[in-house]
Amino acid sequence: MSGPRILAIETSCDETGVAIVSGGRRIEANQVASQVAIHAATGGIVPEVAARQQLRWMVPTTQAALEEAQVEWPDLDAVAVTCGPGLIGSLLVGVSFAKGLAMTHRLPLVAVNHIEGHIYANWLTDASASEPLPPEPPFPLLCLVVSGGHTQLVLMGGHGRYRLLGQTVDDAAGEAFDKAGRLLGLPYPGGPAISQAAQGSRPATRLPRARTAGSYDFSFSGLKTAILREVAGYRERGEAIPVDGLAAAFEEAVVDALATKTAAAAEELGVAAVALGGGVAANAALRAELRSRLSEIGVSLLVPPPEWCTDNGAMIGAAAGFRYLAGDQAAPSLEATPNLALPWLAA
Ligand code: KG4
Ligand code: ZN
Repeated sequence: MSGPRILAIETSCDETGVAIVSGGRRIEANQVASQVAIHAATGGIVPEVAARQQLRWMVPTTQAALEEAQVEWPDLDAVAVTCGPGLIGSLLVGVSFAKGLAMTHRLPLVAVNHIEGHIYANWLTDASASEPLPPEPPFPLLCLVVSGGHTQLVLMGGHGRYRLLGQTVDDAAGEAFDKAGRLLGLPYPGGPAISQAAQGSRPATRLPRARTAGSYDFSFSGLKTAILREVAGYRERGEAIPVDGLAAAFEEAVVDALATKTAAAAEELGVAAVALGGGVAANAALRAELRSRLSEIGVSLLVPPPEWCTDNGAMIGAAAGFRYLAGDQAAPSLEATPNLALPWLAA
């Protein structure tokens, strides 16, 4: 028995993701239509443009997923969709479409929180139906979700059970990467661009670390100001801006902040493992630094491959698989909720 086969839709921001996942773990199809090229032209996401692109790609991406998995509607057990948090226009496209599909094909509807999806990317595997499944992440699991919209440290006590330990008090880590990238004249999105520029370069300076000691909260807006001042200083002196060195300094500061708090929480809470999720989890320096700090305290790090870290439908299908098995179905009146919080149950 391979568990329920779910068609999962993710449209919370600027990727149209449709996947087919069985048993909350096995990916049978994972199609993502990215709008990065469009938003690169404006240096960031214009919400109305993102929503219109979601509408443009919703049907073709769904068809491509069905073709990739070679399945027909009667082969499916449920339709899942991200209902928040995210951009309202983008979310509405996926939620409305999923509701229509569930009703037309008489399938249950499963609603998934986007952050939960990023966490469940750690359950995914591309092992074929004949191959054994890799072991599941162990509980209690400490999850660091770092994306363009969120930076949260979450303790997960079991399926669907979360406790928020800390979060950013201002910019999300990915947002900080994107803003710093713009200040350094790098292309959008800034995360991968800064990471590439920083590779092999020594930090040009030591940027200040935010003072959020005593809590598991993060703050990144001061770093953005620090980069702005550095760039202005080079300009005033008529000197060339050491873009690679400043990118390295920025990346080092963000990675240090994330790794320090995460390792401290892992040690204090005595978790079984740490799991990364969200677009910034694709950052190689973050993975390496976290792995090394956690190995010092004997805790293992789980990281999905980069393509499952950025927004995709498969991660929604993984979370939906476990919700479906728990009997958790959404009403046909399901609404898109831009500021949706995780269902905080004592972990
Ligand atoms: O999870 P995601 O695809 O969308 C949101 O839910 O926000 O995350 C996108 C964010 C962007 O801010 C992007 O700059 C960042 O993830 N990102 C990275 C890297 N790849 C993507 N940040 C740092 N290093 C990377 N390699
Ligand atoms: Zn995301």
